[in-house]
Amino acid sequence: MAKTIAVTGKGGVGKTTIAALIIRWLRENTPGPILALDADPDCNLATVLGVEIESTIGDLREDMLKQIKDFPPGMSKENYVESGLHQLITETPKVDLITMGRGEGSGCYCFINNLLRKFADDLLPAYKWMVMDNEAGLEHLSRRTAAFIDHLIVVVTNNPLAIDCAVRVDQLLDDLDRDVRNRHFVLNAVREDRIPIVMEKMSNLGMEHLATIPHDDTVEEAVFRGESLYTLANTPAITIIDQMMRKIGAG
Ligand SMILES: Nc1ncnc2c1ncn2[C@@H]1O[C@H](COP(=O)(O)OP(=O)(O)OP(=O)(O)O)[C@@H](O)[C@H]1O
Ligand SMILES: [Mg+2]
Repeated sequence: MAKTIAVTGKGGVGKTTIAALIIRWLRENTPGPILALDADPDCNLATVLGVEIESTIGDLREDMLKQIKDFPPGMSKENYVESGLHQLITETPKVDLITMGRGEGSGCYCFINNLLRKFADDLLPAYKWMVMDNEAGLEHLSRRTAAFIDHLIVVVTNNPLAIDCAVRVDQLLDDLDRDVRNRHFVLNAVREDRIPIVMEKMSNLGMEHLATIPHDDTVEEAVFRGESLYTLANTPAITIIDQMMRKIGAG
């Protein structure tokens, strides 16, 4: 069964960047295979990995809604979506990527979320690792995209709102009956002199400090240029990710 790592936190704190660096590390240091799940409707994970995706779960939902009136007798929404799900996996060496996306239509995504969850649960035995990049906020935690999470990583920055968000994640995890085996936080791009202050604010929560990732101009530049983080030379952030992954016993 795959070990699952989910990255969460406030908007813009570096979730996608860190998820991509984790995937890069797993790809280089473990035999794989790895399932990367982009559970953010804005779908950025593929871009930072330099992967082209053909279609998203949101697209599949749109297609279903367009075609539902022409379904042959006996065909259900579930049948339609299940037959399309395997085409949503973008295969790359060692890493398969599934992207949530967002259809153009409004309305309830519960149906698709439930299917995504079941699909992810069904796929997990085939992988050694599953890494999930989440949208900002807390909604995905209650939505339960995977049956359990081995390592939940909450990213915090200098922004006090990012710390408030981490506090809410911690409370929500206490309230929800979610099987989260290890709760961690990482400091990302926190100014050196503020690190002790941020650490102090985080010290009362039920999360372990996992890493302090420095601001890394090379990473920022690669993301800005739209280059894949796979091809980046070793940089300070990548060195810390290496230590972090060994700390959780991945290496
Ligand atoms: N350690 C770092 N050093 C330099 N730049 C970073 C670092 N971490 C993240 N960034 C930059 O911060 C910006 C936001 O990062 P990212 O997209 O990963 O955040 P996010 O939390 O996924 O955002 P969203 O909530 O919109 O999904 C990007 O430009 C990224 O390059
Ligand atoms: Mg993101």
